[in-house]
Amino acid sequence: MSVGYYSSKKTDDICEDVCGQQSSRAALSMSRLKCILRGLDFKTCIFLLVLVPLGILGVYLHGQKITYFLRPIWESPPKPFQILPHYYHDNVSMENLCRLHGWGIRESPRRVYDAVLFSNEVDILTIRWKELYPYITQFVILEANSTFTGIPKPLLFARNRDRFKFIENRLTYGTVGGRFRKGENPFVEEAYQRVALDQLIRIAGIEDDDLLLMSDVDEIPSAHTINLLRWCDDTPPVLHLQLKNYLYSFEYYVDNKSWRASVHKFKTGKTRYAHYRQADVLLSDAGWHCSFCFRHISEFVFKMKAYSHYDRVRFSHYLNPKRIQNVICKGADLFDMLPEEYTFKEIIGKMGPIPHSYSAVHLPEFLLNNAEKYKYLLPALVQASPLSVESMSFLGRWDELGSFSVYEGKFCIFLFAGLGFLHYEEEVYAVFQGVARY
Ligand SMILES: *[C@@H]1O[C@H](CO)[C@@H](O)[C@H](O)[C@H]1NC(C)=O
Ligand SMILES: *[C@@H]1O[C@H](CO)[C@@H](O)[C@H](O)[C@H]1NC(C)=O
Ligand SMILES: *[C@@H]1O[C@H](CO)[C@@H](O)[C@H](O)[C@H]1NC(C)=O
Repeated sequence: MSVGYYSSKKTDDICEDVCGQQSSRAALSMSRLKCILRGLDFKTCIFLLVLVPLGILGVYLHGQKITYFLRPIWESPPKPFQILPHYYHDNVSMENLCRLHGWGIRESPRRVYDAVLFSNEVDILTIRWKELYPYITQFVILEANSTFTGIPKPLLFARNRDRFKFIENRLTYGTVGGRFRKGENPFVEEAYQRVALDQLIRIAGIEDDDLLLMSDVDEIPSAHTINLLRWCDDTPPVLHLQLKNYLYSFEYYVDNKSWRASVHKFKTGKTRYAHYRQADVLLSDAGWHCSFCFRHISEFVFKMKAYSHYDRVRFSHYLNPKRIQNVICKGADLFDMLPEEYTFKEIIGKMGPIPHSYSAVHLPEFLLNNAEKYKYLLPALVQASPLSVESMSFLGRWDELGSFSVYEGKFCIFLFAGLGFLHYEEEVYAVFQGVARY
């Protein structure tokens, strides 16, 4: 006999027991009702057997979304920053600019140190240093042979050092051995590397009252912001910078809420290199934060595995190159997460893919002057297509080379051969011709 039969039989037995014990009429009809309900139990059980696992599976797959969605209930927003208005135009004198901010002007500018922990963002580092170059005294960069998540990492800066000849005489480069602790919270390794960076900054020769810029490589203050802060007096001792958040490229503008980058008037024994909130003042519109702005899919995979939020890679298929390529093309979320916001209004407002931005006004100068090379970071020029969408199906044949998708009439192509992803029709056309010959 099957277990199912046995247990249902048993249920009947219990029911009979209950019915048999009752005497009064009212009680009898009540217990009849109970018995009917008991009778339903078996079906309900089956129903629950299906529903409960489905529910659990749902929570397993989307639990993170549920907690993020309910965040406004369990977490109140941090104390808002006091936002300082930011005044700038190319053709307004420094004296006037300082005065507009309520600051005086100095006889000579302060020295400025830019300090970063480097992982693998070679292109973004180039754009950062080219942007800041005129105003930086020393570029301090620390690289570890371990990611925050304890994965061995090649010294990519050392390998690409000849691409940074332009700052060689202002460079302080240091390396640090990772600790490779298995199963440790990645934030511990991150904190350890920041302490090492603290020491490197002192080795670089920083002195009291010099400006120290603390930010990740991809948090790029605009040059004019740094120039303003080095020339004006009476600026706050610690000032956070409000940067525009972009994702994947400057084509996806997310919001203007990046605040982690900060500028410090260095005080020996007091200033500590950190990436959290250290003051309440935030200078508006002070630059760009381009997250996951990589050329190659392999770099996305590396970063997803390497950074402190590795726990967000809940399923291994998140690292599948085809999936990543699709996500990038659509402006969707790599980790399939909901927006991290504090009000339902903002969460709902930001759900779904990020809309395309068609503005490339006020982006880093070096990026625009080298647009050809860094095309993948810029809004694409949509021209009359040399290929019709129908003819794209022809491309589906060369699977061994890569895959493609069509997104809003623009081609988003990804070649597995390590050539990176291209989403420009001219390039598609070139590739297309190349392959037509092949
Ligand atoms: C800058 O100001 C000068 C004089 O005040 C003026 O001649 C020049 O056209 C201005 N340039 C721009 C780009 O506005
Ligand atoms: C990392 O660097 C340290 C110090 O230079 C070295 O002892 C260690 O062997 C390196 N580990 C790996 C995996 O490269
Ligand atoms: C930031 O974005 C919000 C909403 O899009 C906008 O109201 C605000 O003016 C922006 N602030 C700056 C400094 O751009």
